Amino acid sequence: MAILVCGGAGYIGSHTVKELVTTYEVVVLDNLTTGFESLVDERATFVKGDLGDPEVVDTIFKTYSIDAVFHFAANSLVGESVENPLKYYRNNVGATLVLLEKMIEYNVNRFIFSSTAATYGIPNSELITEETATNPINPYGRSKLMIEQILADMARVHDFQYVVLRYFNAAGAHHSGEIGESHDPESHLIPIVLQHLLGEREQISVFGTDYETSDGTCVRDYIHVTDLARAHILSYEGMTGGKIANQTYNLGNGAGYSVNEIIETCQQISGKQATINYAPRRAGDPAALVASSDKISKELGWQPTFDLTAIISSAWAWHSK
Ligand code: UFG
Repeated sequence: MAILVCGGAGYIGSHTVKELVTTYEVVVLDNLTTGFESLVDERATFVKGDLGDPEVVDTIFKTYSIDAVFHFAANSLVGESVENPLKYYRNNVGATLVLLEKMIEYNVNRFIFSSTAATYGIPNSELITEETATNPINPYGRSKLMIEQILADMARVHDFQYVVLRYFNAAGAHHSGEIGESHDPESHLIPIVLQHLLGEREQISVFGTDYETSDGTCVRDYIHVTDLARAHILSYEGMTGGKIANQTYNLGNGAGYSVNEIIETCQQISGKQATINYAPRRAGDPAALVASSDKISKELGWQPTFDLTAIISSAWAWHSK
């Protein structure tokens, strides 16, 4: 039996594939609009195609014996989703529905879904648990929450089980040094700061200095991509072992860092000084997002293993190569 990884040529997908291939047969489906084939571990079978294309999904389910689908493939930029909502509903909701319908047709009944802290919107508590009300403030967060709701409806009537993983801010690079965080264009804070410190960008902008946080800049909870990858495998094994089904888990470190603190840590690790441009707020950004991951820790024994220094050090090692 194999695992189908949709979006396995993207940042988080490719890191998960690297962990999976040591134990499982893996088929990667990716349309390469934001992913790179070079990120896919050579032990996995790569199929270039779109998960919203029923014929492509048919062929995969007919050719391989698929036990579960890990679904990473999505557009994931908050700002872009505000500018172009239909792109987000088409790709993140519409295409996923095709995949889900095909799973039911072919009796593939385990699904692990990449969701996001953006489903909480502006949270009503400092530390976000899975019980915190969801109220996304941008189309990206709404597109992910829609799929979460669809999964719950499906599990009520079909022979179908799922795990939803709500990531906070994924960061860092694989210990092999072979893969790391790379988007084109790049919009994420840590790679932007590191590229600037390497002289690849003229300056960095801090979006907003008037938030209600300790230093006025946005606070986020950064989690290493390999810790995220391990949570997927634990979730899959928890489902196959009958330990869990139809659960939603937060994945974060439980510690918030402001944009200024991230820049400061990047400067310390690199030994270089940044040129900072303080700019207005970016649309769709909540002030602070910090996770409680107690639920997955209690139910599956997952614990993050990288703190902020280890996360940024791994990213710096990869970027400076
Ligand atoms: N930021 C800057 N300057 C930059 C880039 C980012 O100040 O050049 C700020 C942002 O405004 C934000 C913080 O740094 O306050 C982090 O921004 P990122 O773009 O790195 O990440 P986001 O928090 O916007 O979003 C990420 C994922 C989303 C996910 C979210 C969940 O991209 O998919 O984490 O917390 F929903």
